[in-house]
Amino acid sequence: MTDRTDISEESDQMADEPTAEVSEEVPAAATTADGASQNAVMQTVGMDVFYGEFKAVENVSLGFPEHEITALIGPSGCGKSTVLRCLNRMNDLIPSARVDGKVLMHDKDIYESDVDPVEIRRRIGMVFQQPNPFSKSIYDNVAWGAKINGFKGKKSDMDDLVERALTQAALWGEVKDKLDESGYSLSGGQQQRLCIARAVAPEPEVLLMDEPCSALDPIATLRIEELMLDLKQAYSIIIVTHNMQQAARVSDRTAFFSVDVNASGQRTGRLVEYDETDRLFTSPAEQETEDYITGRFG
Ligand SMILES: Nc1ncnc2c1ncn2[C@@H]1O[C@H](COP(=O)(O)OP(=O)(O)O)[C@@H](O)[C@H]1O
Ligand SMILES: [Mg+2]
Repeated sequence: MTDRTDISEESDQMADEPTAEVSEEVPAAATTADGASQNAVMQTVGMDVFYGEFKAVENVSLGFPEHEITALIGPSGCGKSTVLRCLNRMNDLIPSARVDGKVLMHDKDIYESDVDPVEIRRRIGMVFQQPNPFSKSIYDNVAWGAKINGFKGKKSDMDDLVERALTQAALWGEVKDKLDESGYSLSGGQQQRLCIARAVAPEPEVLLMDEPCSALDPIATLRIEELMLDLKQAYSIIIVTHNMQQAARVSDRTAFFSVDVNASGQRTGRLVEYDETDRLFTSPAEQETEDYITGRFG
């Protein structure tokens, strides 16, 4: 467990690792009918996640295509956030959490001992349910991500970076004249876009979003959904949402999770079905999926 939080000095060797044997182990479930795994930026292969002795999710094999939005849906407690946090090693920060199986980024397992979790979190950014700007200026909220990643450029370069990130997050026009004001001075929806700007400032490849609109009103939600559709040109996005309409509106692919209860009452999440969003919502292969999307669940 603790070795997962070790920060290795050897992450520059990442690219040299042999990867050939890994791809053979990717099960059919990681691919889709139209061969999504061929351009998958990330994949989980037979991933189990434990909190201590408790197995929270079991045997998850999923491929996340580049420049697409993948939605993770399912009832509360089925492990959506758990799966998402494993994708950038945020679960390392929970002492009892343990991951079995593989989590691949471009065929490299991000849990191997030579991978630096801090670098992983730069390449795979995250946005949370509650907007959580720092108690800093709007400018410094965005600059922070670049600074902790060793940004050494001139002030004018940082200015450019901050403008670019805020523009990508569709916030620049609203804040360009008040960059020195506190991040907290913004509305909830603006704060969430500020958090998106902070997440994209270090130029990640993947953006993870855990119910990013659940604290927002419908107008602010629509804004973020439109923004996501723009952002997928530059990033691959994986979003957890409890809102099926949202999954249907924004995502290219949807993974539906459910929960099994064992004899001792433990609830373990499981991937039921993964498909193109249109197909999953109109003609799901599994009865369980059908029951859930038509509201017959529970
Ligand atoms: N930090 C934690 N420690 C122990 N158990 C946890 C922790 N986080 C989540 N769990 C448990 O793991 C299961 C999945 O939780 P979670 O991933 O939050 O589900 P979801 O996001 O789908 O609601 C639940 O049973 C939850 O109680
Ligand atoms: Mg959750």
